[in-house]
Amino acid sequence: MALEILTRAQICSSLRFWRHRLSAPNKSFDPKQVSALNADSVDEMVVGALAALNSATDLNSLKAARLEHFGDRSPIALANREIGALPPAAKAEVGKRIGEAKARIKEFLETRERELTQVRDNEVLLGEKVDVTVPVDRLKRGARHPITTLMERLSDVFIAMGYEIAEGPELELEWANFDALNFPKDHPARLMQDTFFVESPDSGVVLRTHTSPIQVRAMLERDLPIYVVAPGRVFRTDELDATHTPVFHQIEGLAVDKGLTMSDLRGTLNHLAHVMFGPQIDIRWRPSFFPFTEPSAEVDLKCFVCLGESDSGGCRACGGEGWIEWGGCGMVNPKVLRAVGIDPNVYSGFAFGMGIERTLMFRSGVSDMRDMVEGDIRFTAAFGLEA
Ligand code: DAH
Repeated sequence: MALEILTRAQICSSLRFWRHRLSAPNKSFDPKQVSALNADSVDEMVVGALAALNSATDLNSLKAARLEHFGDRSPIALANREIGALPPAAKAEVGKRIGEAKARIKEFLETRERELTQVRDNEVLLGEKVDVTVPVDRLKRGARHPITTLMERLSDVFIAMGYEIAEGPELELEWANFDALNFPKDHPARLMQDTFFVESPDSGVVLRTHTSPIQVRAMLERDLPIYVVAPGRVFRTDELDATHTPVFHQIEGLAVDKGLTMSDLRGTLNHLAHVMFGPQIDIRWRPSFFPFTEPSAEVDLKCFVCLGESDSGGCRACGGEGWIEWGGCGMVNPKVLRAVGIDPNVYSGFAFGMGIERTLMFRSGVSDMRDMVEGDIRFTAAFGLEA
């Protein structure tokens, strides 16, 4: 017989023929003879599939079990394919059996899929969990110094009343710091102020010992009427301790207008005290002396702790006084007005000055001035919420 050369298509179709020959429609079919389709082996397939799906511990192993027991080449899929080759009489029964088996596997597969998806999701959630209570290394933000914010607050009270901010140099003429303010050359007040002189005592230049020379500059530079406040840094030769510092701050106020009286001064300072400390904190005056004001007074604040009602010595804030010393004030001395060319017969003025550190001490309960100058961020941060 001549050797027949087969085409590729012919080879494939003959292979198919041989593969299907056994399962070709068979009139004498006995279902028990097709072992893959009998009830026991189908049950076995189901049991095997369910066991494999059940022992899968994650979605990956479940996928592998699914391919093996429910994929295209799984026993149940192959058995399903055999149905077509059965005689019609057997098809219904076997079809039902295989269909039910597939449904059981599918249902269990879906259950396992849900369970293992849940397991996976829980793991992901747990892995990505963020403990919002754990302290983190935040970058520390600096805070403005409470002396600065307090000076702004005090100034704002006056801005609201129509005052302007005035400024002057920290390195000041001795003339403006003392002479124009009516300090005689040999007046003990000059020594009292313990001044830092620059280079030599006769240089005529000092580190200003108070903000009052800004009054002089304001009256020289500005048109009348004048309403100014001047917060600023001042210097005295004090040693640093709990209640002294050689560099500190004051706020100066000056009003020069026609017809100003001490009651205007009183009302202004009362308003300042109420805004800064509360409506129950009044002021009182004690007669005093400053060369640049006449008459002059010391300003006391009603003690914010005991409100002036403690027994003698009982209150830690005021020592039982009921009042706390705050600053000085008075009507601008006519000699000062004259020194800057203002006619005291037409104009009168009032002036006042307060220490900012003192104000911070009793406003915020700071008991040691050194805390204010040492620059420890823990101190300023405690005031950090102030704008
Ligand atoms: N300059 C004064 C001081 O440093 C404080 C002061 C007192 C200022 C009376 C004033 C005032 O404007 O009228 O102690």
